[in-house]
Amino acid sequence: MLRDSGTLDNIIAHSVAVTDIAMELGRAMAARGEKVDLRLLEAGSLLHDIGKTEGLKGGHESEVSHGDIGAEMLNKMGYRRLAEIARAHMFSKIFEKGALDTWEKKLVYYADKRVNHDKRVRLSERLDYLTNRYPRGAEMFRKARPMLLRMEKEIFEKAGMTI
Ligand SMILES: [Fe+2]
Repeated sequence: MLRDSGTLDNIIAHSVAVTDIAMELGRAMAARGEKVDLRLLEAGSLLHDIGKTEGLKGGHESEVSHGDIGAEMLNKMGYRRLAEIARAHMFSKIFEKGALDTWEKKLVYYADKRVNHDKRVRLSERLDYLTNRYPRGAEMFRKARPMLLRMEKEIFEKAGMTI
């Protein structure tokens, strides 16, 4: 699906790295009895940026809209739950009550914040990178930091893992 939609190689590499993290955590959580749909999680993390190439091509403000573009593409293909995951991975969703209401959405959201390009990094490194790359979002990234750290703690506790 990524190839068919013309997704750039670097975005595919990013998506695979995000999927590795999401699945590692998701599997550990599922093994401890949390309700995580691992098939949905895998497809959702692989496809969360399916709208990104289209967003870049269209000259959209990609960081604002590629989640919605991806959701629209996935909805058109009939994948409603995957569409919800793509829509929910955008950075600002952490401030939206109820936007991250399933483990699959939350894990894709979180794993995406642990990868820079295709490299696994700590949250703080990713936040620093984003602040440099998108200075207009600096305030948002600053506000999100403690919330992301709380989310990280919650996920790792449920997974029985140390950060
Ligand atoms: Fe994205």
